[in-house]
Amino acid sequence: MAKARTQFICQSCGAVHNRWAGKCDNCGEWNTIVEEDPMGGIGGGPAKTPKKGRPVALTALSGEIEEAPRIHTGISELDRVTGGGFVRGSAVLVGGDPGIGKSTLLMQGAAALSRRGHKIIYVSGEEAVAQVRLRAQRLNAADTDVMLAAETNVEDILATLAEGKRADLVIIDSIQTLWSELAESAPGTVTQVRTGVQSMIRFAKQTGAAMVLVGHVTKDGQIAGPRVVEHMVDAVLYFEGDRGHHYRILRTVKNRFGPTDEIGVFEMSDKGLREVANPSELFLGERNEKSPGAAVFAGMEGTRPVLVEVQALVAPTSLGTPRRAVVGWDSARLSMILAVLEAHCGVRLGQHDVYLNIAGGFRISEPAADLAVASALVSSLAGIALPADCVYFGEVSLSGAVRPVAQTAQRLKEAEKLGFSAALLPSGSAELPKGSGRWSEIESLPDLVARIAGS
Ligand code: TYD
Ligand code: MG
Repeated sequence: MAKARTQFICQSCGAVHNRWAGKCDNCGEWNTIVEEDPMGGIGGGPAKTPKKGRPVALTALSGEIEEAPRIHTGISELDRVTGGGFVRGSAVLVGGDPGIGKSTLLMQGAAALSRRGHKIIYVSGEEAVAQVRLRAQRLNAADTDVMLAAETNVEDILATLAEGKRADLVIIDSIQTLWSELAESAPGTVTQVRTGVQSMIRFAKQTGAAMVLVGHVTKDGQIAGPRVVEHMVDAVLYFEGDRGHHYRILRTVKNRFGPTDEIGVFEMSDKGLREVANPSELFLGERNEKSPGAAVFAGMEGTRPVLVEVQALVAPTSLGTPRRAVVGWDSARLSMILAVLEAHCGVRLGQHDVYLNIAGGFRISEPAADLAVASALVSSLAGIALPADCVYFGEVSLSGAVRPVAQTAQRLKEAEKLGFSAALLPSGSAELPKGSGRWSEIESLPDLVARIAGS
């Protein structure tokens, strides 16, 4: 047999190259291509005889299907994000920056599950058992029956897991430390991580245990190593947050057994993570109501309404090319709003720097924030503070029209609950609640500018 040629695999995207190069053609990353053994992890054993499967008619299955069997943690912010608890036999990847609190979250989850009588095994490849215990003590979890193991070798881990009573949930912290004897490349490479994750997923499917895999994220926000890991697992959760703030957000980006776009909000304290049941109160906590350039956006995160403050600063520039800086929102979307303001409202911003910030380090992806952003911008430019008791939402089109968005009633209900008595929203919005609020509909951005200027 001819000697297998080595391959060169990009550690960022997993693309295979025939020769080494400084830059990966596939993803454009520099210095990510590493030589690996092509047989690694694929198993060069003897060919096995194919086994015939038996396709089943979809209709024949009716009646037998139940809801996916789930394990509830009782931590409602965590259960919300997973869609009602961890699903048995499935694999969940929890990604996040180093030090953001992944191990803390999972230790608390493990303790909560253990208290409910589930068998949990926590495999740490990064910390010794004594260190994990120390953390558990700080989290008031040391009195639970969570089993700890400090292993990094995939075969050893599988042997450990196979021993004793079947586990209901296994936590692997983290996938970057996994290495297998089947894969010949160095620990930490794509092949090693992929092989390790594959073995863990197979174990979960075979035994019906729920598998939670922890993955570190690189500085550009990807799970370090292969993107392919995200495709292999059933659900991907990101744990994120701003280092300057003490709250953390757990966000679903993929979920085969539940909704995506859900968030769970936690606050980091000296006793670990605390659930935040009403995030709007947290995000609106530091408001300065009288200053121009601030507008409260009534947003939706999955099924839950969240109110956040959009802050804008528009100031004359001394530079040839004015600055546009955005934190927490899409910069392309800001450019669009600025262009619409210039083209349809006669608002000249070519000689102004524009800074946009979402308060508290929160990140918004909804286009419904357009109206709040436009309001904050116009308010800052005009030097006129917006009414403190008003919320804003609506999508802005390129023609300057303000378009209706989904879940109007829920947004308004949340605003009322938090003491807001007015709202500026798109005309033609359905389902306006009857409550006591003053809901004003607005047709276009020129109307908005006239309204703010006239106030
Ligand atoms: P950790 O869970 O180790 O992060 P990760 O596993 O994502 O790398 O969290 C570490 C950070 O959390 C560290 O900066 C200290 C902080 N922390 C607290 O503030 N309170 C606590 O009770 C614990 C356990 C950690
Ligand atoms: Mg950790």
